[in-house]
Amino acid sequence: MSKIIAANFKMNQTPSETIKYASEFLNKKQNFKSKVIFCPPFTSIYCMAEKLKGSTAKIGGQNCHFKNSGAFTGEISPKMLKNSGADYVILGHSERKTYFDESNELIGEKIKAALANNLHIIFCVGENENERMQNIQNSVIINQIKNTLKNIEKNELKNIIIAYEPIWAIGTGKAISPEQAEEMCKMIKDFINKNYNHGQIKVLYGGSVKSGNAKDLFKMPNIDGALVGGASLDVEEFMKIINAAENI
Ligand code: PGA
Repeated sequence: MSKIIAANFKMNQTPSETIKYASEFLNKKQNFKSKVIFCPPFTSIYCMAEKLKGSTAKIGGQNCHFKNSGAFTGEISPKMLKNSGADYVILGHSERKTYFDESNELIGEKIKAALANNLHIIFCVGENENERMQNIQNSVIINQIKNTLKNIEKNELKNIIIAYEPIWAIGTGKAISPEQAEEMCKMIKDFINKNYNHGQIKVLYGGSVKSGNAKDLFKMPNIDGALVGGASLDVEEFMKIINAAENI
């Protein structure tokens, strides 16, 4: 089963740095068994999409507005993302919730709008450290899914990938154990299957994924890939993670 490996560059790289990164990356490999998706900052999307033409790698945004156009100073619409060469968009990332106050309802509206523009969604869910300590992570995640996807039709789920990202593991170097990640990804799949009658949802793990832990995570049957932050900014390191997925 081929894996999905998505890179979340966050607020890193200027367009010229992205072009350099993409050249180095393509010098190593152009075609992948896995689905490789780069999510650079908005300003790098168009140039990276142009650069990656001819490769099987895809491009995504890290956020978008829920309208296609209008008086929303500083915002980027899903239509603009699509027209810039993106096929994916990350929505619901915990950094958007923490620093920009995004609610589950708002994320739900963004998902609807992005789907209407033929974008695939990487929808992030995850518990914080306190919730994990109280052992309420399952109900926290189920509530996030229910509240965010309440207006999503069953047939729209085929274009949604869920990324399970425990907040305490993001950017901290404290990755969850592969067994814990497997348990959570399976729980999410079982919930979607039971409540939305959709058995094909893909669930990625994200949070301190590196070349050193990638193989053990990818061996797990219910982990369909990874959303990689910090480690995706280094071409060598990211290629090792992709190779770990392709050699399973
Ligand atoms: P990290 O970030 O790999 O740097 O922990 C993952 C993410 O935030 O998507």
